[in-house]
Amino acid sequence: MSEPPAKRSKPSSGASTPAENPYLAHMNDKNGSSSSNGVKNPLAGLVPRKVTADQAKAIMDADVNPFKGLAPFSAGYRKILEVRKNLPVYDKMDEFLKVFSKNQITVMEGQTGSGKTTQIPQFVCYADMPHLRGKMVACTQPRRVAAMSVAKRVADEMDARQAGVLQPTAGQDRAVQLGKQIGYSIRFEDMTEPGTTFLKYMTDGMLLREAMNDPLLERYSTIILDEAHERTLATDILMGLLKDIAKQRPDLKIIVMSATLDVDKFANYFGDNQPGGKAPIVKVSGRTFPVETFFTQEPEQDYVEAAIRTVLFIHQAEDEGDVLLFLTGEEEIEDACRKIRAEGEELANKGMAGPLLVVPLYASLPPHQQQRIFDPAPPPSRDGLPGRKVVVSTNIAETSLTIDGIVYVVDPGFCKQKVYNPRIRVESLLVTPISKASANQRAGRAGRTRPGKCFRLYTEKDFVKELEDATHPEILRSNLANTVLELLKLGIKDLVHFDYMDAPAPETIMRALELLHYLAALDDEGNLTPLGEIMADIPLDPQLAKMLIVSPEFGCSNEMLSLAAMLSVPNVFLRPANQRKEADMAKAQFTHPDGDHLTLLNVYHAYKANGGDKNWCWNNYLNARSLVQADNVRTQLKRNMEKFDLELVSTAFEDKNYWNNIRQALTCGFFMQVAHKEGERGSYSTIKDNQVVRLHLSCGLDHTPEWVLYNEFVLTTANFIRTVTEVRPEWLLEYAPQYFDPESFPEKSEARRALERVIAKKSGKVRSSDKKDKKKRKERA
Ligand SMILES: Nc1ncnc2c1ncn2[C@@H]1O[C@H](COP(=O)(O)OP(=O)(O)OP(=O)(O)O)[C@@H](O)[C@H]1O
Ligand SMILES: [Mg+2]
Repeated sequence: MSEPPAKRSKPSSGASTPAENPYLAHMNDKNGSSSSNGVKNPLAGLVPRKVTADQAKAIMDADVNPFKGLAPFSAGYRKILEVRKNLPVYDKMDEFLKVFSKNQITVMEGQTGSGKTTQIPQFVCYADMPHLRGKMVACTQPRRVAAMSVAKRVADEMDARQAGVLQPTAGQDRAVQLGKQIGYSIRFEDMTEPGTTFLKYMTDGMLLREAMNDPLLERYSTIILDEAHERTLATDILMGLLKDIAKQRPDLKIIVMSATLDVDKFANYFGDNQPGGKAPIVKVSGRTFPVETFFTQEPEQDYVEAAIRTVLFIHQAEDEGDVLLFLTGEEEIEDACRKIRAEGEELANKGMAGPLLVVPLYASLPPHQQQRIFDPAPPPSRDGLPGRKVVVSTNIAETSLTIDGIVYVVDPGFCKQKVYNPRIRVESLLVTPISKASANQRAGRAGRTRPGKCFRLYTEKDFVKELEDATHPEILRSNLANTVLELLKLGIKDLVHFDYMDAPAPETIMRALELLHYLAALDDEGNLTPLGEIMADIPLDPQLAKMLIVSPEFGCSNEMLSLAAMLSVPNVFLRPANQRKEADMAKAQFTHPDGDHLTLLNVYHAYKANGGDKNWCWNNYLNARSLVQADNVRTQLKRNMEKFDLELVSTAFEDKNYWNNIRQALTCGFFMQVAHKEGERGSYSTIKDNQVVRLHLSCGLDHTPEWVLYNEFVLTTANFIRTVTEVRPEWLLEYAPQYFDPESFPEKSEARRALERVIAKKSGKVRSSDKKDKKKRKERA
């Protein structure tokens, strides 16, 4: 849809401010033709959204920085500018700005490395001049690490980086320090300055959250959805929302950027009311440097082994340049890092190769640790063998990231993918072959700052025949409870007819609605209850949010805050392969016999009592990083609690109900994740879904209670439940009577009979046949 004439659109941003009117330019200080010291403002006389490529290029080549108080551009700026001018998108600036000026929605397709993420938002700033209108340009990224690192790069490119200007808030790790003008926002970390930041990189999830409180996203003049081809859940929902917001805000511009593939799909989706039913597409081809790709001749039996071999081979045989290896998950990555380090050291000692720096990268690493991938490679050895950096990463390094110096990519062809089975309500991560699109993205990580090589550890035949073209959209593979809650909070009631690019299975939506209804977030008509409203505002899964919100009633909100934080960070228990016994003994000091949730609390309390000491963590086989993160998450969640006036209280530790209160609050959130013991051999059956499960090896219960509540369903060779705590059937009946109505269970199920016994007992009608059972239970109690 081309933009309506300015007269009609009269947007809230004020389309006819002096800034936008060339004839009134003299009235605007910031946009005035000169500053007090007589320096000419490069933006003088330009009309926002009517800026041409020549004008934009003049801004880039100017003597002073119009986005930063007309400060003279540094020498560093000019150096990077030369690199920027060589990027493929630079040649397309003219076409891009014309399309951008004329249309509300633009689809941008560009090969990896062509300059989409770093350049397009800057072009938009030249044309949009958000800083003169008190608005911002947003550019979304599916991943935090990309949002942070790209923001930093762009701050450098715009000469707007000022070390130390933005200090991380208390409790946060050292974060990337950016200029005030360019910022980023990721969950639990907002590095922007209201009123100053005009270009903001952010995760797609954060923009979605903002939409809940600012439904028309009024603070943005242009929104750029980057890496749309990744089809993350949040990006998919944002696309649907933005289509709608665009109709209500003719002044809002939207750009959807994608690597190759499927751009027609995006253009058609955004093509309502456009000529030919399609949004305009701007295409950029050609990545900056060539990447040579190699396949193996035969399929590899063990991809991790093959990957390690390949990395070490590159280190010994190839020219200077860093290596990026893709593996699937934290454990595999840490393990591979250890092996590569050990073997690399051996090679170096024998004088067969230079020094190695091996750095892991995965989503659960805290941001400042993730930044280590940008550390420089070690210098060459004394006899001149090149030093090398090896980054071993999950697919979070697959898109958007430029790690300067990466020349070699090793791609075994696998990733961990989320899959959701609505029938048994289980979401799990499975190792699966990647798609062709992913393989190309991975290869694209080489050749960004110089020519590169990509080693694929699979055959060319498998690549052609076995790999799917594109990864399935996340929305088709996820539990949607959170999403549905967000959509409802956004005021979207008809979830089935929401304008999804790919609609999720109705069963998945039903499952989400059912869960929210049982949690009392929805009333019988499907409207959000006041409780549901608060739940939507707390950045946690609905079960955890519910548990937190009810916790003051049980006198344990301080504890539940700590527990929610501990459940939101990576595993705190370390168990190195060669020190299992020692690690288990250390864990035993914290173990609570009634459940793993209580054990986690013990750990948190002990950590605080020891002043958050890293050495103490190390000596007790605890992951200090996770605990720091838990502390940080707790601080943020506490703010959420305070916002809603939820009391922060504790039961006296000596009170006999101290632990029971905690278990009851837990039950209120997680009663849909309960299993009942069936048979004699320690196996359980999940309630309603009747999946046979066993307690996970890590479980610290000293007995096998009849009823347990679990945090996680783990699907490996067998089904396990992890992080398990004993619950009482009386609580289940009291806090979730509908869900545990015996009538709703199959006639012969053991769980049903057990519930009926509890009800009968309560009403004093214990049948004689049950006496034996009762006796047994009494003994156990
Ligand atoms: N931190 C950096 N250090 C050095 N060069 C960089 C850096 N970030 C970007 N570049 C340069 O800018 C180029 C464009 O990067 P950009 O992230 O904008 O590409 P893109 O088109 O978004 O790629 P992708 O599809 O992979 O996300 C890179 O290929 C690289 O040459
Ligand atoms: Mg990009």
